[in-house]
This record gives sequence, C-alpha cells and structure tokens, in this order.
Amino acid sequence: MIAILSDLETLLGRLLTEKRRFHVFSVVEFARKIGEAYGVDMERLEMASLAHDLFRDVSPRRLLRMARAYGLKVSEIERYHPVLLHGKVAAEYLRRRYRVEDEEVLMAVAYHTSGHVSFGEIGKILFVADSIEPTRNFPGVESLRRIVFQSLEEGFFQVLKNKIFYAVGRDLLLLPETVELWNSVLTKKGGRVDEELE
Ligand SMILES: [Fe+2]
Ligand SMILES: [Fe+2]
Repeated sequence: MIAILSDLETLLGRLLTEKRRFHVFSVVEFARKIGEAYGVDMERLEMASLAHDLFRDVSPRRLLRMARAYGLKVSEIERYHPVLLHGKVAAEYLRRRYRVEDEEVLMAVAYHTSGHVSFGEIGKILFVADSIEPTRNFPGVESLRRIVFQSLEEGFFQVLKNKIFYAVGRDLLLLPETVELWNSVLTKKGGRVDEELE
C-alpha cells in the first residue's frame, strides 16, 4: 500500500500542472483531518485522495481514448464533456495498474465529481474535501468547513447542496448521479415532493 502511495505521488508530479498538484495535496491534507475526526482508515483515504485527479489535466481526446480502452461505458454527456471521465478513468487505472479491489475507494475516486448514492465514508470525505479544501474560496466555505467536523452526514449534504446551487445558478448541467444522490439523501431525511406539482 505504501508503495502505491509513493508511486501515485511520482505520477502526480508527471501528469498534473503545478496548480492542480497543489490542490490534490491540499485535498489529501484536508481529507486526513476529516478522516482523523471520524476514525477512518488513513491509507485507504489517502489512496483515494491522491488518485482522484490523476488524469484531470489529460486532454479530452486522450481521456476518451483511455475510457474506451478500459471498456468503460461512455454516456452522451461524457462524450461531449470528456473531462467528466477523469474520475472513472483514475479508478480503473487503480484497479488495473495496482490491482486495487477496494470498492469503497474505487467508487470514491470514480464519482468524486458527481457524488454517488453508494458512497461510504471515504467517498463522502473525498467529495467534501475536494470542494472545501483550504485553496477553495467561495461564500460560505468557512461555515461548510465547520459543519463537516460536527457531522459528516450534514457536511456532505450541505456540500452537495452547495454544488447543486452553484451549477443551477450558472446554467450548468447536473449529472444524473448527483440528482439521484440528492433525492436519496433527502428521502433518508424524510424529504417531501412539491404537493402543488401539476
Ligand atoms: Fe476531479
Ligand atoms: Fe479535485
């Protein structure tokens, strides 16, 4: 495991821009703090954090090629926006290159952008840390950082909500996994539908 982690660090040096590398190490560090607060396995969390953006700076054309070579199913949105594939390609890389079979880690990496209904603690922490690590700066980020140390569930929910607000406010697409996650989290919270619905 330690060998994989140091291998990943070397790869990050080769594949990422300096700015992105800074973000990744910031995610690793922030995720570690959250993980410590909730007693999560540090090595598995670190592997997910280090790997999540491994292919984020790869060209769209190459991402598509990698996804196809890996036999991943490419959705229509992904075909138009291949950058969306960077998480799934990174997860598949972990699986093939290092024989990682830890589904919780693989899911965390694959769906770190959209979120996913089957996230475990590692997925939730990575999703949160990716959005609110110290280099991220947007209104309300400080309060999200506080909430996540009070309750991981609530922090995860608020970060998800913030992401959806951001996307809708800018006319950006919502990924189907994000919508599914939103509905699932709200249902668990005893969510309602609009009774005025026609
Ligand atoms: Fe990413
Ligand atoms: Fe990231």
